[in-house]
Amino acid sequence: MAHVFRAVSESPADTAAIGYKLGRLLESGDIVCLRGELGAGKTVLARGIAAGMGADASRVASPTFTLAREYSGRRPIYHLDLYRLSGPDDVEDAGLTEYIGGDGVALIEWPQVYRYLNEIDRLDVSITAPGAGDTGDTGDSGDRRELEFRAHGARYESILEAMGGC
Ligand SMILES: Nc1ncnc2c1ncn2[C@@H]1O[C@H](COP(=O)(O)OP(=O)(O)OP(=O)(O)O)[C@@H](O)[C@H]1O
Ligand SMILES: [Mg+2]
Repeated sequence: MAHVFRAVSESPADTAAIGYKLGRLLESGDIVCLRGELGAGKTVLARGIAAGMGADASRVASPTFTLAREYSGRRPIYHLDLYRLSGPDDVEDAGLTEYIGGDGVALIEWPQVYRYLNEIDRLDVSITAPGAGDTGDTGDSGDRRELEFRAHGARYESILEAMGGC
């Protein structure tokens, strides 16, 4: 079974297309953690995932100021952004736990603050821009992004298996 799936994206459209493939495979209860620096492309990927689930992708935006956005696709999609929260208590106080592993698919940007997510079955996606952070680099790595999908649990291994095959 596949534990890791890697892809290289050369454009926002590429990233969305990769997300689309994933979105086709997601079901209620699935949890996808989206990791990466500011501007890495987490929301672009979420837009592709939503499209792959049959939702209106134009509605997908960073939920930074609302904490949670909901889109209706083949299944409900809960798009969370924990960036402004400072710990697990905040996540619980904001009432966000009901969105995770419930009746829909949870897409979680900045999941680090909610350590519980490290202990449960989920798909972790990391997006990195090669060269980002190099000193003296003028940022001419352009639009390239590296995406790493890492499965935690058999459910997510089978999703990665299917992604590798499409
Ligand atoms: N290959 C690529 N994949 C995704 N986005 C890209 C790519 N190349 C350039 N971009 C640009 O990078 C930006 C990514 O923005 P996005 O809002 O998705 O980032 P984010 O990771 O959600 O950031 P934040 O942490 O602020 O929510 C967009 O402006 C997008 O056009
Ligand atoms: Mg975002």
